[in-house]
Formats: sequence, C-alpha cells, structure tokens
Amino acid sequence: MKTKAIVTGHSRGLGEAIAASLLEEGVDVLGLSRKKTTALPAGNGTSFEQIAIDLSDPAVFSDKSLADRLQTFLAGADRVLLVNNAGMVKPIGPLGTGGADAIMSAVTLNVAAPLALADLFQAVCASVADRRILHISSGAGRRGMAGWSVYCATKAALDNHARAVQEDAISGLKITSLAPGVIDTDMQADIRGASVEQFPALDEFKAMKTEGALASPQNAGAKIAAYLVSDRFGTDAVTDLRQL
Ligand SMILES: NC(=O)c1ccc[n+]([C@@H]2O[C@H](COP(=O)([O-])OP(=O)(O)OC[C@H]3O[C@@H](n4cnc5c(N)ncnc54)[C@H](OP(=O)(O)O)[C@@H]3O)[C@@H](O)[C@H]2O)c1
Repeated sequence: MKTKAIVTGHSRGLGEAIAASLLEEGVDVLGLSRKKTTALPAGNGTSFEQIAIDLSDPAVFSDKSLADRLQTFLAGADRVLLVNNAGMVKPIGPLGTGGADAIMSAVTLNVAAPLALADLFQAVCASVADRRILHISSGAGRRGMAGWSVYCATKAALDNHARAVQEDAISGLKITSLAPGVIDTDMQADIRGASVEQFPALDEFKAMKTEGALASPQNAGAKIAAYLVSDRFGTDAVTDLRQL
C-alpha cells in the first residue's frame, strides 16, 4: 500500500519529527513551511518534497497552483494523510495587547490554513479510498489560560472543526484533532521568552524545562506517525497523545 502525507510546519520542531518518522515508515512526504530543510533525507523507496509557503498569508489559497501541486503529489496513493501541524503561540498577553496584525496572522496560520487545507485535501483526493486528516491541537484549546486567549481560541476551533467534519460522515475520510503534550521545541522557547505580565503561568513552563519534564519531539513525532497509520486513527474526533 502506498501512503503519501502532507505535513505543515515540517521544517523544525514537532512537524519535522512527524515527517521524519513517516519517511522512516515508508510514507512519501510533502512538507509545507516558510523555510525548506536539509534535515529530512528520503530513502528506502520514499520521496520527500517541500514547498516554501507562508500559511499565515490568505492569498496563498487563492493561487490554483497550490491545489495542482497537492494533487500531483498525492496521485497514485492508496492512502493519503494531511497533518495540520504548523502553528504559533504568539501573540502572548492579556486582551488589549495583541494587536490586530499579530492576531490576524495567528488566526490565519492556526485556523484558516488548516481548515482551507482540509477542504482542498478532500476535494483533490476524494477518489482515494483511505483519507486521514490530523489537526495538531493543544490542551490549551480545552481550557482557558491567561495570556493565551488567541492561542486557546484557535486550538478550540480545530477541535470543533474535527467534531463537525466527523458529523459530515464522508465515506473514506477520518479526522482527529490531537493535543500532543508539552514538547521541547522553539515554541516552548517562545513561551519562556514572554514576561510574567504577559503570561502568568511562566514559572510553571520554565520549571518544566529545567526539570526535564518536556517530551522530546522525536518521541512525540514517532507516536503520532504510528497513530496516523494505525487502525485506531479517527475513532475519536478529539484526543490527546498522552492518552493513546
Ligand atoms: N511545543 C509544544 O509544547 C506544543 C504543545 C501543544 C501543541 N503544540 C502544537 O504543535 C504544533 C507544532 O509546534 P512546535 O512546538 O513544533 O512549533 P515550532 O517549533 O515553533 O515549529 C513551528 C513549525 O511551523 C512552521 N510555521 C510557522 N509559521 C509558519 C507560517 N507562517 N507558514 C508556514 N509554516 C509556518 C515553522 O516553519 P517555518 O518557520 O520554516 O515556517 C515550523 O516548522 C503547533 O501547532 C503547536 O501549536 C505544541
């Protein structure tokens, strides 16, 4: 069975680890990030392609060449995966401090792009028998956290998108929104770079780093890749990697 995966935010962090694990499992990968990477060699009969794209820019979705590129990549697959992983935690701070431009970028990257890619994915590969969409959500989408109103709202949107798409009951399509846990990536460095006035839980997150409580991207990425190709995928619209 030939499996092909589109992974957003593949250039570093969790997305890079998911892409690496998928390639190791024999899955062809197309990565979408602003920067290309040289850290993900294909091999063992797999192919690895990348597109440099700014997913916080809504204009990229008006360009038909994106749909053509995705369709060309996915051609010939028996199973296709879309991993909506790219995301940002900023702007961090209480209401009134984010600024419209930063909020628009975050909402476009964290919500509009995954929803548009999911729609495009279903449209261009509707004839593939096994289609799977994974949103990388966050525990922050399942509760409110001071300083993270934009981030919490965007991740909650992904969860409810997955619930609603599951209600569409489209034959051959499975979708899950997954909270991956707290992982040692650049995003955690962004969080620790905030002030306590912007993010009151700052000390808790600094302590997780110093106490070695952060999960490694490699471990989380390997578990997510295994889940993506497992029979369990899509059972629940909303799930948590720590409970799988
Ligand atoms: N780390 C955690 O503890 C944690 C916890 C819960 C959920 N998550 C979620 O896990 C996902 C991955 O997070 P991470 O920690 O790996 O973050 P990260 O280290 O900051 O990496 C973010 C990835 O997204 C890409 N990206 C950022 N802005 C982009 C844009 N405008 N257009 C296209 N790609 C863009 C980045 O690539 P370029 O810079 O090359 O564009 C990079 O590959 C996110 O959705 C995050 O919300 C993370």
